[in-house]
Amino acid sequence: MQIITDPGQMQAIAEKMRLNRQLVGVVMTMGALHEGHLSLVKLARKSAGTVILTIFVNPRQFGPSEDLHRYPRPFEQDVALAKSADIDYLFAPEAGSIYPEHYQTTLECGALAERFEGEQRPGHFNGVATVVTKLFNITKPHTAIFGEKDAQQLAVIRQLVLDLNMDIAIVAAPIVREENGLAVSSRNVYLSSQERSAAGIIYQGICHAEKRIAAEEYNLQAIAAEITGMISSVPGFRPAYVSFVHEMTFEPAAIAEAGREYRLLLAVHVGGVRLIDNGKFRA
Ligand code: PAJ
Repeated sequence: MQIITDPGQMQAIAEKMRLNRQLVGVVMTMGALHEGHLSLVKLARKSAGTVILTIFVNPRQFGPSEDLHRYPRPFEQDVALAKSADIDYLFAPEAGSIYPEHYQTTLECGALAERFEGEQRPGHFNGVATVVTKLFNITKPHTAIFGEKDAQQLAVIRQLVLDLNMDIAIVAAPIVREENGLAVSSRNVYLSSQERSAAGIIYQGICHAEKRIAAEEYNLQAIAAEITGMISSVPGFRPAYVSFVHEMTFEPAAIAEAGREYRLLLAVHVGGVRLIDNGKFRA
């Protein structure tokens, strides 16, 4: 595995691979690598001869009151994990080489990026879309793997690729969970051990939705209210939103129609940590 920090050097390597007709797959992360990230690498390997993993804590997707400065950056540990995974290139640029002095351009996403995470974190998805586009231009991939853990991010990126005619196949990776169902996340290290085990309630909420919909309860708003109640009953857990959306548009859905697909989106504050999760259902 080769470690590259210079965007120009990474771009030159990527161009050479393209000229040699090698299929390139990219997995983008902000580091603090875990099982979820590694599952994306395994998927990338299925469709690509060369796998590039990027690690970059993107300042432009953090709000002024968010956790940019305390975001975990265990770089040595990440390098060791990346080496043990099946990765050809680790691209880990400095912030100054991605956003040099006098940098000006930011992409603006549309309505999809303004709801839920976008509403809670203004500008977040514009920052994500900008860095993802830059990393696409630097790594020139044929396929890119993103996790369903961040379902709205995945939808925003699919829209970005479609709208800007990017010739890149976007592959969705299923959510990897801890034993109690908590979705694996770099932010889980901020939780106390008590909070971490109690956080299984979020997955129990998703399972509750699954059962209610299987029993032909089509009032999605009522199911969401039940789940909000379940989560709020845990001391210190405050749901920010628990909502069903139409799978294709991410527009809020109140009543389900038989045969259609919906996604339950959840964001929960636990102490100073914000956890997000989701589940997909067919009514
Ligand atoms: P990060 O939170 O590090 O996540 C990197 C990728 O790993 C994303 O595609 C995310 O959905 C996926 N992922 C995280 N936890 C997962 C889990 N438990 N199961 C499956 N996949 C999981 O998302 C970002 O970084 C950034 O916004 C980024 C796209 C890199 C742009 O800066």
